[in-house]
Amino acid sequence: MPNIKANVVKNSKIVKEPPYLRELYAFIYKNKSMSRFLDDERIQSLLSLGAKKVLIEDLLEDVGTNSSVLQIGCTFGSQMQKTADKIGRYGSYVVADALPAQIERCREQLIDKKIDFEVMDARKPFSAKYDTVICFMLLHELPETSREKVVNNALDAVKEGGKAIFIDYNMPSKYNLLRFFMKPFNRLYFPFTENLWYKQIRAYARKENHFAWYKKTYRAKMFQKVVALRKVADEKKPETKPSFY
Ligand SMILES: C[S@@+](CC[C@H](N)C(=O)[O-])C[C@H]1O[C@@H](n2cnc3c(N)ncnc32)[C@H](O)[C@@H]1O
Repeated sequence: MPNIKANVVKNSKIVKEPPYLRELYAFIYKNKSMSRFLDDERIQSLLSLGAKKVLIEDLLEDVGTNSSVLQIGCTFGSQMQKTADKIGRYGSYVVADALPAQIERCREQLIDKKIDFEVMDARKPFSAKYDTVICFMLLHELPETSREKVVNNALDAVKEGGKAIFIDYNMPSKYNLLRFFMKPFNRLYFPFTENLWYKQIRAYARKENHFAWYKKTYRAKMFQKVVALRKVADEKKPETKPSFY
């Protein structure tokens, strides 16, 4: 019988807060009432124009029951709870976040779920490897250099045959009139989002060809899901019998 432990917080080391979190997003992530407000499922649905539900459903299609999963960054709404349910008691789910306040918020809420929380800046490499690594609505908040580090650390933490899943904003189609509202809004509050409109997530990968890449878009291209599947090295592939023909 596996040893089932729940809701452990690892890493008592002091993790230096990334400067962009302190300067730009403290009003969201370090403010309890704001976090509580944004955590409401109806607010999440409104802010994503109803897309959040579909994005979570599509994320879960790629998460295996009983698998090992690393998620970089806590999220609002039901994404973490649903992911923990999908993984189940016999898998492992590690959630790493640079802010102890966010870890505490999620730990309190998800006390009955089997999740290991870790205070960790994902701009530093991870020591373990996982079947799946999730970045859910994280990359758009990061400045270019940090984004590159986080994408590569996420990819490096994927086991052979495993995958990294990036769900985030994408350049809306020219028929999506919301783009005219989103541009000034992003420039004011989320200044690094626009770069994700013009640069593909796979373009940040140093070892791009170690992965097979798949991309899907949602809501007139406003959101994207990118899956990077780590290829298995030839010498590790199961031997196949030479064909008679
Ligand atoms: C994953 S994003 C998602 C929030 C988004 N609004 C949502 O719920 O859809 C936000 C989280 O990422 C965390 N974060 C940002 N930069 C990080 C980094 N370098 N390492 C670890 N966590 C980070 C923040 O502290 C925050 O809790």
